[in-house]
Amino acid sequence: MSQLNNAAPSLDAYWMPFTANRRFKADPRFLARASGMYYYTETGREVLDGTSGLWCVNAGHCRPTIAKAIADQAATLDYATAFNMGHPKAFEFADRLSKITPDGLDHIFFTNSGSEAVETTLKIALAYHRARGKGTKTRLIGRDRGYHGVNFGGISVGGMTKNRMYFGALLGGVDHLPHTHDPVRNGFARGQPQHGAELADELERIVALHDASNIAAVIVEPLAGSTGVLPPPVGYLQRLRKICDKHDILLIFDEVITGFGRLGAAFASQRFGVTPDLMTMAKGITNAAVPMGGVAVSDKVHDTLIEGAESPIELFHGYTYSGHPLACAAGLATLDIYRDEGLFDRVRTLEPVWEEAVHSLDDAPHVIDVRNFGLTAGIELASRPGAPSIRAMEAFERAFDQGVLIRVSGDTIALSPPLIVETGQIERIVGAVRNVLEQVA
Ligand SMILES: Cc1ncc(COP(=O)(O)O)c(C=O)c1O
Repeated sequence: MSQLNNAAPSLDAYWMPFTANRRFKADPRFLARASGMYYYTETGREVLDGTSGLWCVNAGHCRPTIAKAIADQAATLDYATAFNMGHPKAFEFADRLSKITPDGLDHIFFTNSGSEAVETTLKIALAYHRARGKGTKTRLIGRDRGYHGVNFGGISVGGMTKNRMYFGALLGGVDHLPHTHDPVRNGFARGQPQHGAELADELERIVALHDASNIAAVIVEPLAGSTGVLPPPVGYLQRLRKICDKHDILLIFDEVITGFGRLGAAFASQRFGVTPDLMTMAKGITNAAVPMGGVAVSDKVHDTLIEGAESPIELFHGYTYSGHPLACAAGLATLDIYRDEGLFDRVRTLEPVWEEAVHSLDDAPHVIDVRNFGLTAGIELASRPGAPSIRAMEAFERAFDQGVLIRVSGDTIALSPPLIVETGQIERIVGAVRNVLEQVA
């Protein structure tokens, strides 16, 4: 009881996610508030956000209309179960979302995170085939270096070794396509790399191995983000779509990072001109102000499951907080900002400036590759012998000390500023990266 008012909390209790806990707690970095393009530390030091938080604060921080929408909603209807009950904003938000999702993906299932959105797509894919009397189509195909969140389905189809290797038996019946990273042929590519479309043909090999009658779906990130920004080779996604169609395999795009303007269109699918059957979203869906995720489902899949259902409840799946009123309110206010400020188009305008700026790092110390697309960039560093990832980690820490937040994944620095970033701020982010790369050993 008396412990409730502990004034100076120990750092021990909080087990931080995806964090070098011991390293952090020896030299903690605290963020106290945020506004627009900036975080502020407890001492009031300004930190330019080069990563949109975690690829999610696409419209910049603490937008007043989003904050107000959340506060108003909390005071009006704090919570409503989504199981056999509705509240207006969930329907309104799903309707608004369905107008910006790719044509034909008109049905929205709400989750609370990207990871849950991924699990939802996998379950819907399996249920879809079963509903069509094709219950043997159960195998799921992911991709090496893919990231699909942290739940068991997601890490099973995912391909980031450390996220999988400690956790025992994963989902059975999973196979993986090869990744598309090919620095020998595509090193320092600007935009989509030219080489690698043929890597999609590996799906034919997997089909020959398992037979199409056993394969439910292929899941890929249109641009692989967490593994270090890998834009898809020209023609690759088109080829995957074609092979999936040929074999009656569903194509799932995981657009948790690429959605909501990051690549200069509402979704990557539209930018690349390839429409999946199921598509995840999260992060920018509420500008990250309230946790939320979702799945956009094609009419074909939706109608099969809804119209063919044997029981009144068509899909035995959902979350206590699916379509949470605060998340829906935040999401609606977020969509208004994206529309009113033309932020998705803004990315297209900024893209050449961004590309030029990040490729000015091509000759920076330790840099072995630079990749970019939309408002994303991956700057890959040579590993320090015997100490992989440490150089990038040191670059991250030093950049923070210099007032710029960057992100690292392995040996790659990933940049993804809010879509409101100004040219001068792009220069500052890139300048800080060059600076720290000149400092780290
Ligand atoms: C492509 C992709 N899928 C899924 C996720 C998981 O989302 P969350 O952390 O909200 O569970 C992420 C998170 O970065 C992601 O990039």
